Amino acid sequence: MSAPHNYEHEQALWDTFAESAWKDPSNGDPVFRWTQYKDHPGDPGPGILGDPSTVLEIGYGTGRALAYLAEQGIKGTGVDLSPVAVAHSTEKYGHLGIEFVCAEILAYLAGGETTFDAVYSVFGAAWFTDPSRLFPLVANSLNPGGVFAFSQPPAIPGAYGPQGMYKGGFAGPVMFTYRYSYTVQQWQEFMETAGFTDVEVREIDAPTPSHIGTLLVRGVRN
Ligand SMILES: C[S@@+](CC[C@H](N)C(=O)[O-])C[C@H]1O[C@@H](n2cnc3c(N)ncnc32)[C@H](O)[C@@H]1O
Repeated sequence: MSAPHNYEHEQALWDTFAESAWKDPSNGDPVFRWTQYKDHPGDPGPGILGDPSTVLEIGYGTGRALAYLAEQGIKGTGVDLSPVAVAHSTEKYGHLGIEFVCAEILAYLAGGETTFDAVYSVFGAAWFTDPSRLFPLVANSLNPGGVFAFSQPPAIPGAYGPQGMYKGGFAGPVMFTYRYSYTVQQWQEFMETAGFTDVEVREIDAPTPSHIGTLLVRGVRN
């Protein structure tokens, strides 16, 4: 189900997030992890992307995952809605040759002519974009054999579809975004409908029992 996104408002929301994230510049230090937990022994790391020469991160935030991959010799492009995020990441990592683009991901992919060996999102744009619109565009942006993978928190039981989220509390201007949450089976169907094969949808347990785990979705474009 599509939700009425207002990208002007969402940009303001994510600018505030980026300003806060970059208050501690070490937040942007190179690291690649799918989960929200530092040094999680169950995190599969970037290996699930295959052996890409080129990658696209959608909703890259700080750019720390792209920086990690660039240090391994992988050519990275990052797309993010927030001009503040793009300014910070460009300043910190522009020298690594990463292309940081400020754009809304559906618009970027719809207009794109470049294709990639892997596309991924870590609690990024795949969480905040309608999968029925995003996934077919991602499939088109991948080279044959390319991998799409993303992580985010698992759905709260019973809360499926677009989940509205106000900006910074419940007083002040009406600004909000949507996160998209589905069951494992529904994610599988979105991926297969968009043409992905070898689809795997799984939940990685948190390092501490009964803490929030991580949903990890992966598929291949034939
Ligand atoms: C929670 S942050 C991602 C954090 C990132 N993984 C990191 O380690 O810094 C989500 C990011 O997705 C971006 N985003 C959300 N919706 C987007 C959209 N429609 N198009 C492009 N970027 C989007 C936001 O600007 C934000 O930087």
